[in-house]
Amino acid sequence: SVGLTFRFMTSAPVRVPVAARLATARRYLMCPPRFFTVEYSINPWMDPSRPVSTEGALAEWSALKETYELLGHKVETIEPQPGLPDMVFAANSGTVVDGLVLGARFRAPQRAAEADFYRTWFLDHGYRDVVMPEKTNEAEGDFTWTGDVLLAGTGFRTDPGAHAEAQEVLGVPVVSLRLVDPRYYHLDVALFVLTEAGPGTRAHIAYYPEAFSPGTQRLLRRLYPDAILATAEDAACLGLNAVSDGQNVVIPREATNLIAAVKAHGYTPHLVDITELRKSGGGPKCCTMELRG
Ligand code: ARG
Repeated sequence: SVGLTFRFMTSAPVRVPVAARLATARRYLMCPPRFFTVEYSINPWMDPSRPVSTEGALAEWSALKETYELLGHKVETIEPQPGLPDMVFAANSGTVVDGLVLGARFRAPQRAAEADFYRTWFLDHGYRDVVMPEKTNEAEGDFTWTGDVLLAGTGFRTDPGAHAEAQEVLGVPVVSLRLVDPRYYHLDVALFVLTEAGPGTRAHIAYYPEAFSPGTQRLLRRLYPDAILATAEDAACLGLNAVSDGQNVVIPREATNLIAAVKAHGYTPHLVDITELRKSGGGPKCCTMELRG
């Protein structure tokens, strides 16, 4: 049973019930960072003059994959390619809802070639509906499925025109969100879903309000009044780049406030080390594309 214990000076501990959490089995696609480096800079986290350990990144990635497997999730992998150091960030190469695949079109020329390797992976693995976007689209970097709507970030990478394209290709309602802080250049470093919406229930999410424009902050408050609001410290260690199965939350270990908050809300945090991957501006969610349906 989960619950919060509040202690009052004058009374015995009181148990306040917290909604039951429920894990659902997931399928993920991941790419081992065998060619991982930071040799160009396309976000404020990337400093090519700072040393990076490919071995260390591989160890972090393997531990992440093992965490998912121990939680009962299925992990598929795609071969990494030399010269594509960011290919480890699988989330950027496809948005899959109900077995329909919307591929990627990267903003940075350095990453452009990744999209076609992932497209080929989908075709080789039985996906029949694979659509490549016309507009700049960094997939789950900027698209977050909540169970009833697709939240879609723009401001740095994904073109707002890609939001309309996603709605048309995937046949799901899209809600556009404006990102304003270059450190949080993708939606998945500013917001994640803890529990998907179900029949008659809204999604439970966590986000860092200051990463969004004032209008988007109002929109998020309206849609998700019970969201967990992350602190600046949680955001600054990429704590929002977390992955939840509805019960278990795989999260960067430095995000101490957020870890305590998700626990208080009845979830089970699983802490991961992303020391090397973070040098490229990525964390657990960036390394993880969810294959839905
Ligand atoms: N270096 C990569 C880039 O800037 C990091 C991508 C992280 N992926 C993500 N889903 N946020 O494109």
